[in-house]
Amino acid sequence: MASGKTLRQLIKAGASGDSSAFRRASEVVINEERQKQHHLLANDLEKILYSDALQPAERSLSRILPKIPTDKERGLPLLDIHQPRRTIEELILPEDSLLVIEELLEEHRRQDVLRSYGMKASNKVIFFGPPGCGKTLAAEVIASELDYPLAIVRLDALVSSYLGETAANLRKVFDFISQYPMVALFDEFDALGKERNDGSEHGELRRVVNAVLQMMDAYQGQSLLLAATNHEHILDTAIWRRFDETISFPLPAQAQTAQILALKLRGVRREFEIEDKKVLILFKALSGADIERVIRRAVKRIILKNQEFLTIKDIKKALNREVKHNSIQG
Ligand SMILES: Nc1ncnc2c1ncn2[C@@H]1O[C@H](COP(=O)(O)OP(=O)(O)O)[C@@H](O)[C@H]1O
Ligand SMILES: [Mg+2]
Repeated sequence: MASGKTLRQLIKAGASGDSSAFRRASEVVINEERQKQHHLLANDLEKILYSDALQPAERSLSRILPKIPTDKERGLPLLDIHQPRRTIEELILPEDSLLVIEELLEEHRRQDVLRSYGMKASNKVIFFGPPGCGKTLAAEVIASELDYPLAIVRLDALVSSYLGETAANLRKVFDFISQYPMVALFDEFDALGKERNDGSEHGELRRVVNAVLQMMDAYQGQSLLLAATNHEHILDTAIWRRFDETISFPLPAQAQTAQILALKLRGVRREFEIEDKKVLILFKALSGADIERVIRRAVKRIILKNQEFLTIKDIKKALNREVKHNSIQG
């Protein structure tokens, strides 16, 4: 086992995302193990450290991206970087919403054509709709379709209690976004919606939101800036006009419910047809995230019971559990 000091260095380097410090600390661990004649372990560790094939995509991302900015006061990263994986087939939306996303992708893929006519691809987009309806997923899908990294910015992480620090954080975020083309999602823009109703209490957050909007206005780079909110009445304000596109993420209607079920039940043997109205009606008023959870619950049960086929009854049971779960939470 590596010494306490080495382990501390290793974990510190990993947690701070400093990849060269991480590599150095890992090499110290490997040397220590070799000195203790633990050659098999040392070889294994070496393989993990040096083989590109074994490196998670996030590690290779951290090599090409500039260093992730942190909040000076707490040392917290201001953005989370993800290697997007899911593709557009996994995003189920009404046709009009999907169309806007497809147009957006096309504008970005063929930016040079637009540019030769003196035009720019839309790059400021706001997503709105109830929780669990695919807003964060859509940001991932757009990033993976464009082969860009996904950076998720949380407004609450930006807000600092130190005077001037919030503005500095925002500047750091925009500097970062400007250095490399990526999809930047300002997630949970919700604070904004609340702000409008409850006066001056959260004046600070409102100022931050306004500052974000101003920086978005001024932004000229290659990255795609997305904002997501659960508050539909953002459309009652002037805010949405500052975006090039607004995209609605409603609760799935029956047609989308059927598509989500088909996606989530792929490879699951079942005793019913997905298009059966008796099945679809069960999921009325549930979000995509709810549907996914119910299906996962039901499928786990039949696996553990060694049951070959999923039945409507299994789904009903899982749904009942879901309703109870929600009422306890709410
Ligand atoms: N429209 C959708 N199409 C496909 N899957 C969905 C959809 N909405 C939700 N899901 C599933 O639920 C998960 C959580 O949804 P999420 O994108 O986080 O919702 P939101 O950001 O709108 O709150 C997704 O990762 C996905 O697996
Ligand atoms: Mg979300």
